[in-house]
Amino acid sequence: MNPKTIDLIAGARPNFMKIAPIIRAINQNKTYQHRIKYRLIHTGQHYDQNMSGNFFDQLGIPAPDFNLNVGSGTQASQTAGIMMGYEDILMKQKSDLCVVVGDVTSTMACAITAQKMLVPVAHVEGGIRSNDWTMPEEINRMATDAVTNWFFTTSEYADENLRRMGVVRERIFFVGNTMIDTLLQNLDRLQKPDFWDSLGLNPKDYFVLTLHRPANVDQELKLKKLMQTIIDGAKDKKIIFPVHPRTAKILNKLGISSKNLHMVEPMGYLEFNYLVQSCFAVITDSGGITEEATVLDVPCMTLRDSTERPETVTMGTNELVGTDPNNLRPYLEKLFSGKWKTGQIPPLWDGKAAERIVKHICTLL
Ligand code: UD1
Repeated sequence: MNPKTIDLIAGARPNFMKIAPIIRAINQNKTYQHRIKYRLIHTGQHYDQNMSGNFFDQLGIPAPDFNLNVGSGTQASQTAGIMMGYEDILMKQKSDLCVVVGDVTSTMACAITAQKMLVPVAHVEGGIRSNDWTMPEEINRMATDAVTNWFFTTSEYADENLRRMGVVRERIFFVGNTMIDTLLQNLDRLQKPDFWDSLGLNPKDYFVLTLHRPANVDQELKLKKLMQTIIDGAKDKKIIFPVHPRTAKILNKLGISSKNLHMVEPMGYLEFNYLVQSCFAVITDSGGITEEATVLDVPCMTLRDSTERPETVTMGTNELVGTDPNNLRPYLEKLFSGKWKTGQIPPLWDGKAAERIVKHICTLL
C-alpha cells in the first residue's frame, strides 16, 4: 500500500513549535513512514529570520516542500494569498489530509481551502475558545473548527466547547499539547541569550515582558500607560522585553525609556525559553507563553480580558489580569510578597502529544 500524503501547514511563529514534534514523531518511526508521508507547507505569513528561519534551524524542522511567500498584509489579503497559493498546490497534487495547527490566519485559510478541495482537515489545538470576537484568532478558531473533520485537543475545556458545537465524540481526540512536547524535548538545550552577561541578569531577578495584541499595542496612549505601570511596578527588577514587529512600529514613536527596561529583538526559541525558565515572572498577552510558564512553574500575568487556555489559570501559574493597566498593581503586590500560587501541569501535557496524533492519523487514513 502506498503511503498517504498529509500536508503539514505552518505559517507564523507560534506554529513552528507545534509542527516540529509531529515531524519528529513521523521521522523517528519506520511504521509511520510506511503509512504516511508529509509535505511541509510554509505559508510565509511570518518571514523574518527572527520570526521564522531561526525556529526552523533551532527546532530541526526540515526546509519546507513549498513556501507560499504570502508576506504581511491585511487579514483579508493574507487569507486570500494563502488560499490561492495552497489551492494551486492541491490542484497540481491533492493530498489525503491537511493538518493545521493553532489559530493563526494560515490555519484558517488552509483548512477552508483543503475542505473545499475535498481534502479532510485535522486541527491540532482544535476547540479552544476565548469567546472574544475582537481577536482575529478567535474568528480563525471558529472558522477552522467549522470545517475540521478531526480535532486533536489540548484540554477538556476544548472538548466541551466542541461538544457544545455539536461535534460527536468520535471526531475528538484529547491528545495533549504539542507546544509542550517541544518545550520538554528542548529543556536541556535551552541557551543563555547573548545579552545575559552584558545586562547583568541573575536568575529570578528580572521580568520577561511580551506584548503584541491589538487591544494592548494599537493605541499609543494606552500602550504608554501600560508600559509606565509595568516599569513602576517592577520596582528594581529589570524588564526584558523582546519586541514583536507589530509592537515596535508603535513603540518607536513613544520614546519610552527607563534604566531597568531592556527592549530586545524577537528572540530564538531556545534563548527565549531559557529567559522564561529563569525569570521572576512573565507579563504577557500571548497565549502560548502562558502554557510554557505553567509547565516551567513560573508566575505569569496575562494582560487580556479572556483566555482560550483556562487551564493555565485554573491549574497553572497564570492569572488573567485584564487590559486595564490599573489592574496590574494588586497582582504585582502578591508576587512581591511571595504569595503567588504554585501550579500543576494539566493532564497529558507530558511530551507525547505528537506521538498520539500521528498514531491516530495512521488509523484514521
Ligand atoms: C500573528 C498571529 C498571532 C500570533 C502572532 C505571533 C494571526 C491573526 N495572528 O500575529 O496569533 O500570536 O503572529 O507572532 O495570524 N511582521 C514582520 N516580520 C514578520 C512577520 C510580521 O515584520 O516576519 C510585521 C508585519 O509588518 C505585520 C506585523 O508584523 O504587519 C504583524 O504580522 P501578522 O502576521 O499580520 O500578525 P501578528 O501580529 O504577527
